[in-house]
Amino acid sequence: MKKDIEWTKIGFSYIKTDKRFVSNYKDGSWHDLGLIDDDKIILNESAGVLQYAQTCFEGLKAYTTVDNKIVCFRPDLNAERMYDSCTYLEMPPYDKDKFVEAIVKTVEGNIDYVPPYGTGATLYIRPYMFGSNPVIGVKPADEYQFRIFTTPVGPYFKGGAKPIVIRISDFDRAAPKGTGHIKAGLNYAMSLHAIVDAHNKGYAENMYLDPATRTKVEETGGANFIFVDKNNTVITPKSTSILPSITRRSLLYVAEHYLNLKVETREIFKEELKDFKECALCGTAAVLSPVGKINDHGEDITYNMDSMGEITKKLYDTLIGIQLGTIEAPKGWIKVIKE
Ligand code: PLP
Ligand code: COI
Repeated sequence: MKKDIEWTKIGFSYIKTDKRFVSNYKDGSWHDLGLIDDDKIILNESAGVLQYAQTCFEGLKAYTTVDNKIVCFRPDLNAERMYDSCTYLEMPPYDKDKFVEAIVKTVEGNIDYVPPYGTGATLYIRPYMFGSNPVIGVKPADEYQFRIFTTPVGPYFKGGAKPIVIRISDFDRAAPKGTGHIKAGLNYAMSLHAIVDAHNKGYAENMYLDPATRTKVEETGGANFIFVDKNNTVITPKSTSILPSITRRSLLYVAEHYLNLKVETREIFKEELKDFKECALCGTAAVLSPVGKINDHGEDITYNMDSMGEITKKLYDTLIGIQLGTIEAPKGWIKVIKE
């Protein structure tokens, strides 16, 4: 039976669910414990993750479709990205096929927490890995834990589809040849001061510029950007220091193949922002959140403060339709967990 949760009222915060998946890496191989009940982790005080932040994570969602199936969206791409994050952080990657199997198992174990169709809520799935044995010299750990927990979530930004106001940040979230392209926990630690500062000044998010020249648009702390120009071309930034968003890649495909729009992935200069018609943030948590205004050191670049732009709305409706089963998905995008 579904849990007694006010699905339409929840925001993006942690609610404990019943089961979590655990696998431990020791002596050169992974040993799966499977699903467990305990949400607590006991670690040595000098664990690699605690001292040198050796950790990475993923984020995806499970949905209840219009015909009452439970599905998730492109988990193979999360498996691949986590593999890349682990490799770059000198952590032992978890097998990609087993990653998808573990996602399925974890959702099955928490099936009563998957929000019903029509509530706007979803079950957020958080796979993560961390160095678990004592490390004191700066080096990778020898032992690791891979876990997956789930939590039901509503909209990432308060107000759902209401356009948000962001600012161009003077802080960086990544280094030119650092870890911006992987989902390392340290990138998020680095963004905490900037996000608190932005919130204190009334902005929902930071637009980070490229850390080398501070002339080009990168992304926010937790989402990529999509812009629409006057010709309805959908444009997204190209950079080696942003996270390759699965939502962004999916939206570009939707724009091209479902909506017959032109798409471009290219460097976007800050000076171009005023020429665009629409701006939105895209990501698993953010879905597609319209940006109404960008503040550039006191000067406003305004798009639409009242509602989602026309193209953004079409992209949003199509993506959500694919995820919820009202629009046919491209082959391989939907992993059915429960028929
Ligand atoms: N950029 C950052 C920094 C993120 O944390 C996320 C969230 O995962 C994204 C972009 C969006 O990626 P995805 O669409 O794969 O969730
Ligand atoms: C996600 O969209 O899954 C993310 O990881 C973003 C996070 C900052 C909530």
